[in-house]
Amino acid sequence: VVHVFMSYLVRRQMLKSLRTDTEHAGFIFKYHRRVLKDVLPFSAFLTDSFERRHNYLRISLTEKCNLRCQYCMPQEGVTLTPRSHLLTAEELLMLARLFVREGVNKIRLTGGEPLIRPDVLHIIAELRKLEGLKTIAVTTNGMNLTRLLPSLKKAGVDLLNISLDTLVPAKFELITRRKGFHKVMEGIEKAIEMGYNPVKVNCVVMRGLNEDEVIDFVSLTERKPLDVRFIEYMPFDGNRWNFKMMVSYQEMLDCLKQKWPNLEPVPGEETDTAKGFRVPGFRGQLGFITSMSEHFCGSCNRLRITADGNLKVCLFGNSEVSLRDFLRSGATEEELLHIIGAAVGRKKKQHAGMFNISQMKNRPMILIGG
Ligand code: 5AD
Ligand code: SF4
Repeated sequence: VVHVFMSYLVRRQMLKSLRTDTEHAGFIFKYHRRVLKDVLPFSAFLTDSFERRHNYLRISLTEKCNLRCQYCMPQEGVTLTPRSHLLTAEELLMLARLFVREGVNKIRLTGGEPLIRPDVLHIIAELRKLEGLKTIAVTTNGMNLTRLLPSLKKAGVDLLNISLDTLVPAKFELITRRKGFHKVMEGIEKAIEMGYNPVKVNCVVMRGLNEDEVIDFVSLTERKPLDVRFIEYMPFDGNRWNFKMMVSYQEMLDCLKQKWPNLEPVPGEETDTAKGFRVPGFRGQLGFITSMSEHFCGSCNRLRITADGNLKVCLFGNSEVSLRDFLRSGATEEELLHIIGAAVGRKKKQHAGMFNISQMKNRPMILIGG
């Protein structure tokens, strides 16, 4: 307690010298209240005004992808950020170090497709050296997985989420606008073989495209240690979202219960985004990510950094701050922390609701990072 209080006093002094206007005074007040309220040490910079502690950082490694999923990539494509405006590995690692020092214990690498970044293994190996970082996760479309898995495992990847929206090869091509079904399936098998347990499979469910496959996906969990997560279709710029195409969690659950009336909930952690279930006797399990029908903003612990170095405190919010620009203009770590703290402090209580989100300007998902 003494240690925490001392470090609080030191920080407060620093903050005082750097923060002058009234907004900042309010920030310090909140900080003060928080530290005194719960003595548990967690960074004030990563705690928002609703007491949510952000210990999970998702970093997008690239805006590029070797697939073109309809729900993620606008049909006309996206204008890629010039290379010099993307974070270098060193910048990214510097930021990661800062976040981990402040209490982030899980980092997920996303994209675009993170595994097409040439220095991905170097980045993972360097992240692995960070004391305090418990989990390194990767979300991938699985296209390069078979080849890369041994090195990924060696570099230190703990968790794999593989995107797969259909079990029908022709439909795969329709949804992703590319061929590759068998490669992804092979990647999933290889991940299981290499001992990843569970292997998470992300399946975005869209009416008229794949909602008839939820039963087949769950059947896969009978013998394989998969955690299939059905994701409600979310609106992002350019993905032509409409309400009718979204299949809600309740609808999927009803459908599965007709086939498996004994489907049972699996208790999870407070910050889990998925509501877990399993069919008794099956090796794997399933879950629903209900961002649209039952959001989980109240327990959100996630922050995002885009490939071009913007901190995004909410997936569905368009407020962003360029950490890259501050980094490149020579900001010190303390200054960066204040920028981060102020952005986290402005995080809204919850997203604006699916209809408002669908009208809002945001980035296409491919430029955010899943
Ligand atoms: N709705 C829901 N999930 C999405 N993802 C990307 N776009 C969407 C969307 N519009 C998720 C998918 C994919 C990951 C990279 O991001 O789960 O697997
Ligand atoms: Fe690529 Fe993943 Fe987006 Fe599909 S969802 S286009 S695989 S980044």
